[in-house]
Amino acid sequence: MVHVLMGLFSNLCACLQTRLRIRRHNAAEGAPDDVVETNDLFFELRTLELATNFFSELNQLGHGGFGPVYKGLIPNGQEVAVKKLSLTSRQGIREFTNEVKLLLKIQHKNLVSLLGCCAQGPEMMLVYEYLPNRSLDYFLFDKVKSTCLDWTTRFRIVTGVARGLLYLHEEAPERIIHRDIKASNILLDENLNPKISDFGLARLFPGDDTHMNTFRISGTYGYMAPEYAMHGYLSVKTDVFSYGVLVLEIVSGRKNHDRQLGAEKADLLNYTWMLYQGGKTLELVDPSLARCNQDEAAMCIQLGLLCCQQNIADRPDMNSVHLMLSSDSFTLPKPGKPGIQGRGGRWTTTTTSALTNSATATNASTTNTGATRVSGGNSFIDEYSRNSMSVSSIEEGR
Ligand SMILES: Nc1ncnc2c1ncn2[C@@H]1O[C@H](COP(=O)(O)OP(=O)(O)OP(=O)(O)O)[C@@H](O)[C@H]1O
Ligand SMILES: [Mg+2]
Repeated sequence: MVHVLMGLFSNLCACLQTRLRIRRHNAAEGAPDDVVETNDLFFELRTLELATNFFSELNQLGHGGFGPVYKGLIPNGQEVAVKKLSLTSRQGIREFTNEVKLLLKIQHKNLVSLLGCCAQGPEMMLVYEYLPNRSLDYFLFDKVKSTCLDWTTRFRIVTGVARGLLYLHEEAPERIIHRDIKASNILLDENLNPKISDFGLARLFPGDDTHMNTFRISGTYGYMAPEYAMHGYLSVKTDVFSYGVLVLEIVSGRKNHDRQLGAEKADLLNYTWMLYQGGKTLELVDPSLARCNQDEAAMCIQLGLLCCQQNIADRPDMNSVHLMLSSDSFTLPKPGKPGIQGRGGRWTTTTTSALTNSATATNASTTNTGATRVSGGNSFIDEYSRNSMSVSSIEEGR
């Protein structure tokens, strides 16, 4: 009887622990902690002002498509990254809060943890765990810093990102299509383990195409699947394509597009395909790597090409990618032609026509594509309107 009561008691405690969380982030030094429900997710504006030295430039970590990101130190001693969403969402605070609540439940060791948000003042803000090594692009595309990324680390990043994406696509409480997988959205922890950032951000701007028209991002050239860039057609395979480009960048240590390398090599995907067809795949491997497991490298290159195939159905899903990476005995199929057409160029939006864009979506919200190609002469323009990337729904039915 005593055992039964003890068991009941410990079950009750476990239950309470999952429902309640001791929240310290707003508590001043020495003040008692508030005990709040998990869904109480707000940071006081004042707390974030103090944490970031009033959003001083010195604290700024970077500036991306949604606004600046600041490093901060909150009263419980935890370092955080505060992302100001400079773009106004059409959502009200309640919808914004609901989206944040959902994103708080999306947790995995290969995803950056969202800690909460702030909806006071003119800008909404998101508060994330701070990652001391910032993002993969800082290392990968820097001649000196890239030496920190030996082959073992790179392979771990390739598998870690695959694991995080698999979680987003198949295991999270709601399916999330990231839509912006790229080196700057892969953050690195103190041991250079990868964590995907910025998943789910587009949920906060549903149907808001006004800022999308005017806002341009650079640096994401070449990550976008052609069907998405050209027609706004969105599916999990859109992420698979971007992941494939990322894998090729990790193996080669270069950006997906680099004009300075000359016409033949400028487009990473094109160049890789050429090498593959000529049986010279390993020439792609970053020359700055002192040592490299050639079997793994060749497998990663083939995997990258498989993910970037023009034919959407032929691209593996993240489950298969994960299987290929974790099994020794898996023979990878031969990749077909990569989807090179349509990734280049400059896109803008001209219409407000709505269109549902995913064959796999059962309840995806509608999308404003209206993407038209703006002639950019014969050179590639590394700038896109964010419209075709961010307006469509990231949430897909399964
Ligand atoms: N949680 C974090 N910890 C440490 N550094 C971060 C964190 N989040 C972002 N950063 C840094 O801030 C920079 C800007 O991030 P941000 O996401 O705004 O821009 P981006 O990734 O370059 O573009 P995008 O808006 O398209 O994602 C990143 O490159 C990264 O170095
Ligand atoms: Mg980012």
